[in-house]
Amino acid sequence: MKIKAIIPAAGFGTRFLPTTKSVPKELLPIVDKPAIQYVVEEGINSGIKDFVMVTSKNKKAIEDHFDNFSELETILKNHKNESLLEISQIIEKSNFLFIRQREQLGLGHAIWTARSAFNDEHVAVFLPDDIFTCEIPAMAQLIKIATQEKCNVIAVQEVPKEDVSRYGIIDVRRQLSPNLFHVKDLIEKPAINKAPSNLAIIGRYVLSPNIFSSLDNLQFGAGGEVQLTDGIQNLLLSGEKVFAYKVQGQRFDAGTIFGWLKTNIEFALKHPKYSKDTIEYLSMLDKEFLIMQSKADALKKRVTKLSF
Ligand code: G1P
Repeated sequence: MKIKAIIPAAGFGTRFLPTTKSVPKELLPIVDKPAIQYVVEEGINSGIKDFVMVTSKNKKAIEDHFDNFSELETILKNHKNESLLEISQIIEKSNFLFIRQREQLGLGHAIWTARSAFNDEHVAVFLPDDIFTCEIPAMAQLIKIATQEKCNVIAVQEVPKEDVSRYGIIDVRRQLSPNLFHVKDLIEKPAINKAPSNLAIIGRYVLSPNIFSSLDNLQFGAGGEVQLTDGIQNLLLSGEKVFAYKVQGQRFDAGTIFGWLKTNIEFALKHPKYSKDTIEYLSMLDKEFLIMQSKADALKKRVTKLSF
């Protein structure tokens, strides 16, 4: 399958203000490297070479991250720097194209903005807020199904009923296996009582090249934005097959401050260099917390006794 990636990275990152006033959200670190680098690595490990990044004003630092920095390399020539070597290898193996989205009109519009970079290739969409740790890269899992079944594939995950209005939700035509679903319809950010299921779209898609024409002239949808979910609904209406797959692995939502903190803690716990210190630090906090808790309980008992 001929395939290129689109990584939409044009959003303002308002949840991370004031940091994102000058630093793109996608470059905030998860332990020791920027969030977007994990996403590109997942793409490379899924066999993708071409990455189209949709950016906007104030995002030039993303272009710099995926470019050589010869002055720095000269300075570090005599000191082996593995992190720099890692990003240099990514740059060498891949092609990066940056396209500006002049107006932030929604995810669907961001994807549509990248259309001129595609001929007849399939479109692998990576939403960079979602980071996965999987034995087989999340995107590779979707590509395998898309190739075998000759269909569009979107990653889904079960979410608590009260969270459905934060996601695109699928309506299932037929469950094909424990983790694979034939999609009947999709709806972006439904109210709880309008959600056809609790299977939420999470940030990975393999779409046919027709997605661009499906997004042509699309009306503004949920939240007053041009929605990718509505574009995929148009693919369905035109007779294309859409499957949804429960990706095997763990998904981290680094798109909110608390989600980003949790992702950092989890990744630090798994990191060969930082896991020991992180475990020690968290156990120390845990002990302090237990002491504080028992002190608070003792105090509560005393107060209760006094009040009788
Ligand atoms: C986007 C998509 C939505 C999907 C979500 C996953 O929404 O529009 O369908 O469920 O990503 O994170 P956003 O989070 O950009 O509002």
